[in-house]
Amino acid sequence: MTNTSRQQFRFSHRLRVRWAEVDMQKIVFNAHYLMYFDTAMADYWRALALPYEATFAALQGDLYVKKASVEFHASARVDDQLDVTLQCTRIGSSSIVFTGSIFRGEEHLVSCELIYVFADPATQSSRPVPASLRDVLLGYEAGQEMQDIALGDWPTLAEGARWVRHEVFVQEQRIPIAMEQDEADADAVHVLIRNRLGLPVATGRLLQPTPGMGQIGRLAVNRVLRGSNLGRAALQALLAAAAQRGDREVMLHAQSSAQGFYAAQGFVPRGKPFAEAGIPHIEMVRALT
Ligand SMILES: CC(C)(COP(=O)(O)OP(=O)(O)OC[C@H]1O[C@@H](n2cnc3c(N)ncnc32)[C@H](O)[C@@H]1OP(=O)(O)O)[C@@H](O)C(=O)NCCC(=O)NCCS
Repeated sequence: MTNTSRQQFRFSHRLRVRWAEVDMQKIVFNAHYLMYFDTAMADYWRALALPYEATFAALQGDLYVKKASVEFHASARVDDQLDVTLQCTRIGSSSIVFTGSIFRGEEHLVSCELIYVFADPATQSSRPVPASLRDVLLGYEAGQEMQDIALGDWPTLAEGARWVRHEVFVQEQRIPIAMEQDEADADAVHVLIRNRLGLPVATGRLLQPTPGMGQIGRLAVNRVLRGSNLGRAALQALLAAAAQRGDREVMLHAQSSAQGFYAAQGFVPRGKPFAEAGIPHIEMVRALT
């Protein structure tokens, strides 16, 4: 046992121990703990609203593990639910140090220190950690917001919104570009979420087909960052804008795959499913108080 408490970490990733990861005593093989930390690290970048590949390509560098130390205090067993915590504890000139812990409930099972070096991917020679990355890491650990949510008109937000929509609707969902772009953008209220590096990561728009009625559409989140509450943040910003201008109801055409997401935000289905751009949809509606 050590004195490390899970409360000292802002970031935590939950996982469950699988049968393939344990030995005959049903105890986790040692090497898997490093994999747990590595998996958690992918989620850590998501918590910072940084899509890893695009971010490090833009920063013209990548992170390489230089040293990984693991200290075992107690074993995890099959079917255990574990919380893997991580914290950036030091940023040197070209190195970034993370301290991690694995907990089962409040019980501290494993400690870890991971030393990464920021380096040029072509030559693998170390480079100084960019000031922007340093700022994001320190800001996250200090409890700061990792995203900037802007509401505005099309001329103000078009560049970022177009970028996210093109990636999601045209490239990923293969919706023809002529269908994705329409004239309604000019009259809509738009939301654009950018991360701390200024990269657009989520967007959506709010129309007003009839007085008192809002219509939300084109809601899209960077594929890599889905599941980190950016979609909800964008939707909530549009709902707040609709309420503020006096809309009594908001409707939308939900892709069937997103129906559960909208249902969790209080939308209920109305009418029969239909196809739009070859994708199954259902109309959903929510009253505004
Ligand atoms: C749909 C979309 C906008 C959701 O954004 P997201 O950032 O992934 O969602 P969030 O992380 O904000 O999720 C908020 C909550 O909804 C849940 N949720 C997210 N997507 C869900 C889905 N498809 N079905 C059910 N629940 C979902 C999350 O688990 C989370 O629940 P929690 O509060 O219990 O943790 C995003 O997945 C997306 O861009 N998809 C592709 C484009 C698209 O389909 N747009 C919708 C057009 S109608």
